[in-house]
Amino acid sequence: MRIMVLNGPNINLLGKREPDVYGREDYNALCERVTAGAKARGITVTIRQSNHEGQLVDWVQEADDQFDGIVMNPAAYTHTSIALLDAIKAIGIPVVEVHLSDISKREAFRQHSMTASACISQIYGHGTKGYIMALDVLLNQQR
Ligand code: DQA
Repeated sequence: MRIMVLNGPNINLLGKREPDVYGREDYNALCERVTAGAKARGITVTIRQSNHEGQLVDWVQEADDQFDGIVMNPAAYTHTSIALLDAIKAIGIPVVEVHLSDISKREAFRQHSMTASACISQIYGHGTKGYIMALDVLLNQQR
C-alpha cells in the first residue's frame, strides 16, 4: 500500500510553534514517527508539506494515480479551502483528515472543517499519534 501524508501551512514549524497546543516534537520527529509506523505496517509512505494552497491541490490531484490513500493535515486550510474540498472530491482514493490538536474544543472558527465531508474519517486531538491512527484507518478500509 502506498500512502501520501500531506501537511499544510506551518506544520513545518512544529516544536517551536505554540508548543502548548501542538507539542514539543518537531517536524522531523513527526516524519520519523510516520515513516517508522508506515514501515511497521508494510506501507510505503511519501511525506510532503507546503504552505501554499495550490501546491496542496496539485499534490492531491496527482496522488490519484500514484497512491492508494492520503493522510492529510490541511492545517489552517481545513477551515477555509473549498479548493481542497473539491480536489478531495475529485479523486478516487480515500483521504483521512488529521489534526494534532482537538479542534472541537478550540476557537469556533476551528470547529468547522471545510474538507471533512469529503474524507472517510477525521482524527483530532491525539498529537502525532493521530497520523499513525490514520494509517490504520486506511489499512483497515482496504481489507
Ligand atoms: C491543526 C489545527 C488547525 O486549526 C491549525 O490551523 C493548524 C494545525 C492541527 O493539526 O491541530 O495549523 O490542523
